[in-house]
Amino acid sequence: MTFDLQEAAKQHLWMHFTRMSAYGDADIPVIVRGSGPYVYDDHGKRYLDGLSGLFVSMVGHGRTELAEAASKQASELAYFPLWSYAHPSAVTLAARLAELAPGDLNRVFFTTSGSEAVESAWKLAKQYFKLRGEYGRYKVISRDIAYHGTSMGALAVTGLSAIKGDFEPLPPGGVRVPNTNFYRAPSFVSSSIQEFGIWAADEIERAIVREGPESVAAVFIEPVQNSGGCFPPPPGYFQRVRSICDKYGVLLVSDEVICAFGRLGYYFGAERYGYVPDIITFAKGATSGYSPLGGMIVREQLMEPFLTGTATFLHGITFAGHPVSAAVALANLDVFEREDLLGNVRANEAGFRATLEKLSDLPIVGDVRGDGYFYGIELVKDKATRETFDDDESERLLRGFLSHALFDAGLVCRADDRGDPVIQLAPPLICTQEHFDEIEQILRSVLTQAWAKV
Ligand SMILES: Cc1ncc(COP(=O)(O)O)c(C=O)c1O
Repeated sequence: MTFDLQEAAKQHLWMHFTRMSAYGDADIPVIVRGSGPYVYDDHGKRYLDGLSGLFVSMVGHGRTELAEAASKQASELAYFPLWSYAHPSAVTLAARLAELAPGDLNRVFFTTSGSEAVESAWKLAKQYFKLRGEYGRYKVISRDIAYHGTSMGALAVTGLSAIKGDFEPLPPGGVRVPNTNFYRAPSFVSSSIQEFGIWAADEIERAIVREGPESVAAVFIEPVQNSGGCFPPPPGYFQRVRSICDKYGVLLVSDEVICAFGRLGYYFGAERYGYVPDIITFAKGATSGYSPLGGMIVREQLMEPFLTGTATFLHGITFAGHPVSAAVALANLDVFEREDLLGNVRANEAGFRATLEKLSDLPIVGDVRGDGYFYGIELVKDKATRETFDDDESERLLRGFLSHALFDAGLVCRADDRGDPVIQLAPPLICTQEHFDEIEQILRSVLTQAWAKV
């Protein structure tokens, strides 16, 4: 008897953030292999991976060189912990990341995922301030609708109430401020993106003052906010946030779980927007998904209190900085350098934007926004008034139609309604105009059908 993947998936696999009931009668998509920017399902059908899996596959699929790096490392030393020991691939990777990171972010603490990286950054901020005698600093400020992960701490940093309520009470100290969605800017700052940026940054200062600066440990911000549909920072926003953090002695954490490793045409998003954070959190693209790895890169000054006496960062994860993952990350960076993937993104990002902007002639397309190879397309019911869809319409349109229709048409992307309804795109960094055209054609056809259903 042959093993029925479909049946076994329905019986035994619990998919993440997935309504399992939706697959009572429908097939679960089973992706079996990938090559370049394409993946293939168990029926041999090809899909353009317009989301790099989940913002992960930077160098594309099917790179034997990364698989070989993993195999070589596993044969040599498959595992040893970073608890009191070092191993060559973690050391080499830490040195290489320190070299690539901006400013004096020279110390790397590895994790296995983005949530663990965020969790680690918050824990580090808390312990750092305790060691400095600033015992009251524990709160974190983050932005509305921002996603920072699923573990309890990362969830408390997350600004999506819909995925938090069932797990409350969460660790105390999460404070929300507005994000940088200029398309939905309040009317008093909607006529100038500069003024909007100043207002949004100053909301962080107002939150720090309101909470009491002596109680605030850190501000967590993505270079381009993913959840809600790609909100790039207004000009000068990060410079202002940096100076506000400095004024009140609050740490600035750049959560680059999505934005690092070329997504915005730079190794780190902070570089693109010209600021130096105190901590960068990363994961996803660090290995292009050939093995799991995350971490945080921190400034020298944060390490200092831990370099004397009995001080120890009381935190660790068995598989963090796993030798195989670290070796894969090094091979991934080799591909970045050899093929100049950052150069490819910088050379082609204007084409990506222009191609997606062609969709603006469709009545359902309200806004096209993003930077690099990271875009969101906001869908609206009325372009003139920017009226959005209500919950029922959003449910019918996004979950009931768009997600499946886009996939059936051969495009992996994300139809997301965690904020206003958006379609998100983040193709592998190897993509060029032919892939953008393919994305545009599929979106045009499916969004036209969607509009007919509104
Ligand atoms: C900005 C950001 N932070 C943290 C996370 C959590 O990462 P992970 O799913 O690897 O735990 C994500 C995941 O998408 C993310 O986008």
